[in-house]
Amino acid sequence: MANKINLNPLAEELNEILSQSLAGQFLSDLGTRLYFPKGIIAQSGEAKKHSKIANATIGMAVKNGKPLILNALKDQLPGFESQEIVAYSPTAGIEELRKEWRDAIIRKNPSLKGVSMSLPVLVPGLTAGLSYLSDLFLDEDSVLLTGNPAWDNYVLIVEARRNSRLKGFSLFKDNGFDITGFEATVKEEAKSGTVRMLLNFPQNPSGYTPTKRETAEIVRVLMETADSGAKIMVWSDDAYFGLDYEDDIEPESLFAKLANAHENILAIKIDGPTKEDYVWGLRTGFITFASKGMKEEHYDALIKKLMGAIRSSVSCAATPSQSLMLHMLGHPESEAEKTEFRKLLEERYRVVRKFIDAHKDHPVLSALPFNSGYFMSMKCTGVGAEELRVKLLHDHGIGTIAIDPSHLRVAFSSVDTEKLEMVFEVIFQTAIKIVETKNR
Ligand SMILES: Cc1ncc(COP(=O)(O)O)c(C=O)c1O
Repeated sequence: MANKINLNPLAEELNEILSQSLAGQFLSDLGTRLYFPKGIIAQSGEAKKHSKIANATIGMAVKNGKPLILNALKDQLPGFESQEIVAYSPTAGIEELRKEWRDAIIRKNPSLKGVSMSLPVLVPGLTAGLSYLSDLFLDEDSVLLTGNPAWDNYVLIVEARRNSRLKGFSLFKDNGFDITGFEATVKEEAKSGTVRMLLNFPQNPSGYTPTKRETAEIVRVLMETADSGAKIMVWSDDAYFGLDYEDDIEPESLFAKLANAHENILAIKIDGPTKEDYVWGLRTGFITFASKGMKEEHYDALIKKLMGAIRSSVSCAATPSQSLMLHMLGHPESEAEKTEFRKLLEERYRVVRKFIDAHKDHPVLSALPFNSGYFMSMKCTGVGAEELRVKLLHDHGIGTIAIDPSHLRVAFSSVDTEKLEMVFEVIFQTAIKIVETKNR
């Protein structure tokens, strides 16, 4: 626990509110200390609404009510007001955008209709969102469960940055999600009284999303564990949401299944336009909270904690990115274009699927289950993934990723469709050649 003497009264106030809710049970020391100051940002927000004569609150240069802007910038973005480009944004993001994103989440996950959840908070990318959640909820003795193998940034954020423990559970068994392993891991962890978990579907690096049946099983395990009295927090990293290429996949986010499931389950959604809307460099993402027992005042307090994390690190996310996003979301052609882009990715998936299905008995490479997203990964037997990666790059000019000593990841999303079959031929042949040379 944080030393109470050092707590700011505003932090104490938020802690008091949150102690009446499930979220309060998960706060880290840092989370306990965080608050949103009633300082410049809050006072300036108040002045924005009520100052009739002059607003002398914010550190920007303003003329006739508009921020000054250099022509070199303005000329490049003719459709935008200076306010939309150079002004500071609110700490939690532009409200209109947050509301649009919330509506989009509900549209994409119809079972969230009518469910109580927080307004999404805008963060500078999903990575930042994960990092802030780690600030709020992870201490040195915390364990965060996640599927193995996982995106390499998880361990950097959770272990290197927060000094907590990222504990992997094996994701797959018999060509699908390993529900038995998952159940054993969750129930073992529940003995400590709390379970913190980060799930990411479509998954990086495997490219797997659980089927409808598997998702129902995941929910069953979590509900049973919650029924037993354990407090559970599930972070759904939905970076690749919507890119599912097989009919049996669960189309809704796990967040939607858990948002109103149980008083002992806190569901948190980390998502954003990075991959969903093809804007990798825009650096915007969202965090949304939902739990059956939580009320508006609890969400407000949690959001203020998160705003404290944002204010004390980047202050606020970039305004041009948010303005561009608002224009993009409201543009009449965006949905049709996204459908086309998605089709392209699915077409690439089909090529890879066909190749992998035709090479099931390969002695060196075996694909992990995959059905969605940007990637697929292969387990390497008899050859190190790094050795294979280096050989592919230097002898054949093909770039891949060695995830760990025994898994090679291929991002089929970034290879032109017509090259994919050749790329996989080379990967498979090179793997065999390395093993044959060793055995000679
Ligand atoms: C699983 C997963 N989550 C989050 C991200 C990062 O998203 P952002 O670029 O918005 O930080 C990635 C990007 O590779 C990812 O694979």
